[in-house]
Amino acid sequence: MPQTRIAVVTGANRGLGAEIARQLIARGLHVLAAARNPGGAQRVNDVLGAGAEPLQLDVTSPASVTAAVEHAVGRHGRLDVLVNNAGVTDGAGRASELPMDTLTATLEVNLLGAWRLANAVIPHMRSVGYGRIVNVSSNLGSLSLMTSSSEPAYRVSKAALNAMTRVLAADLTGTGILVNAASPGWVRTDMGGPGAPRTPEQGADTPVWLATLPDDATTTGGLFYDRQPLPW
Ligand SMILES: NC(=O)c1ccc[n+]([C@@H]2O[C@H](COP(=O)([O-])OP(=O)(O)OC[C@H]3O[C@@H](n4cnc5c(N)ncnc54)[C@H](OP(=O)(O)O)[C@@H]3O)[C@@H](O)[C@H]2O)c1
Repeated sequence: MPQTRIAVVTGANRGLGAEIARQLIARGLHVLAAARNPGGAQRVNDVLGAGAEPLQLDVTSPASVTAAVEHAVGRHGRLDVLVNNAGVTDGAGRASELPMDTLTATLEVNLLGAWRLANAVIPHMRSVGYGRIVNVSSNLGSLSLMTSSSEPAYRVSKAALNAMTRVLAADLTGTGILVNAASPGWVRTDMGGPGAPRTPEQGADTPVWLATLPDDATTTGGLFYDRQPLPW
């Protein structure tokens, strides 16, 4: 019988993260539903049931990342899947007037947090020769689609996250660890707002597909939207 895959989903207490966790559980994975506030992950656990396990994790804190990964590996002996979903946006604003502390705070979650956590889990994935890392990116991070300046810190952070996806994937060639980025599209969450055209179910589909690529899959270093390549 195949081993149950162990997954960590960041920002799993609401929005896309909660839906990604739900879909992974439905596919038979055991999910550590991570949230930065202690009550958040417990709440998602209450909603998602036995397939989810709460995990306290603030991706901006190196100590929190270390403690969370040690806790997860201590309980399960392995970590197979990481979905870097936690994210923040700077909203409307002009690139030419962007406060640098806003840029720093955005990069700290969307880029550094994702990279920090990836580097913490990779040794555990290497040890079993298997891993799936999914970085939840955005169409707004696509350089070739970048014709507006709204959410400048967010756009730059997601473009950088895409670059991180490529360098990590290249670094991990041949290890069994596949690293990809996914754009969920514009989704009705707290971040996307009520006017967004897509449901969380639709937005979660591509991240979940990448997180559950089969054992013999070779797809890595890509950016996908609705399971199709998205221009960088
Ligand atoms: N919604 C869209 O239209 C859309 C489009 C493209 C891409 N995305 C991406 O999809 C991902 C999820 O977005 P969403 O719409 O679900 O956003 P959301 O509803 O605003 O949820 C964001 C999640 O990230 C968590 N988070 C923020 N900072 C964190 C930190 N330092 N450590 C751990 N968790 C942290 C939040 O936790 P708290 O509850 O504690 O704040 C929350 O769980 C993000 O990466 C976003 O950029 C969304």
